[in-house]
Amino acid sequence: MAITKLNQSQSSNGAQNEQQLSKDCDELLSTLPKERGQRTPNLYFYQGFWCQPKEIQAIMSVQRNFIAQDSDIILATIPKSGTTWLKAISYAIVNRYNFPVQNDHPLLSSNPHELVPFLEYKLYADNNIPDFSTFPSPRLVATHVPFSALPESVKRSGCRVVYLARNPFDTFVSIWHYLGKLRPESLGPLPLEEAFDAYCRGVIGYGPYWDHLLGYWNESLEKTGKVLFLRYEEMKQDANAQLKRLAEFLGFPFSIEEEKGGLVENISNLCSFQTLKDLVVNKHGKGAIFADSENKDLFRKGKVGDWINYLTPVMAERLTNIMNEKLSGSNLSFSVL
Ligand code: A3P
Repeated sequence: MAITKLNQSQSSNGAQNEQQLSKDCDELLSTLPKERGQRTPNLYFYQGFWCQPKEIQAIMSVQRNFIAQDSDIILATIPKSGTTWLKAISYAIVNRYNFPVQNDHPLLSSNPHELVPFLEYKLYADNNIPDFSTFPSPRLVATHVPFSALPESVKRSGCRVVYLARNPFDTFVSIWHYLGKLRPESLGPLPLEEAFDAYCRGVIGYGPYWDHLLGYWNESLEKTGKVLFLRYEEMKQDANAQLKRLAEFLGFPFSIEEEKGGLVENISNLCSFQTLKDLVVNKHGKGAIFADSENKDLFRKGKVGDWINYLTPVMAERLTNIMNEKLSGSNLSFSVL
């Protein structure tokens, strides 16, 4: 797929340099509330969520330029809630006629983020405008932005949105580990307590997490055919059942013959944590999301309940109380162990 570079002076790597931003974005940033960042010097509160400067610029461009088609599929998550997994299974389901599950499957040689690009980190990053004319149909793209900040055409068109939610405890621990890998040395280490306090105040990329969850949750209740709300914990418990749900929602249901032939299990195995983690591209590859990131950091433990090894009972109680308060009345809750 071709990407047009509008402004060659923009850096194409993942480095977060506020000086590389457009004038529009620079001016906007100076008006926004800001907090100390975790991967960049600052996080800004833009359209109701916390975000890094470079991504704000890209999101502005997505909102202006991305025109959704009815056949599009948008995968939405907050970072570290299983995006890589969701991309892999969605890609495998939708492309199973072109790419049967066998030895030369694209997922065996490419990281899922290369096959299903992010709107804000890849397609519209660095002042790029993607040329979708060579993009396979249905267009499968991903985003971390909250529902409220999706381009209007996504909300109005018949395109489908899949949201994957993960319990906030494991999501926090996962993002803390990941930020530890990505954070430039100049910012120093990120103490767990400091990161946790920010998280509890809602200050995390694309957060507050409770708002992110509720935006997609409410939409999934109101428009069942438009937004599918999946949970990481349920996928871990019964991946095959969730795969079937997803395939049905996407308009690519498994036939009885496919089910009998074991295709659901085969896709589930192809996309399992261990299969993906052990692949050469994911052990030694780089740059699937940011130029400066290693693919192996996308596969840590892949478990439910690992938070117990990091959060004290006092921390757990604080986050439980916050989530209970923020999600009260929504019927949304999480199993965390
Ligand atoms: P942990 O850090 O808890 O291990 P994202 O893909 O949104 O960046 O989320 C990363 C989290 O999902 C990490 O969690 C990672 O290990 C886990 N993960 C990645 N691939 C997975 C898979 N195929 N199955 C289950 N979990 C996966």
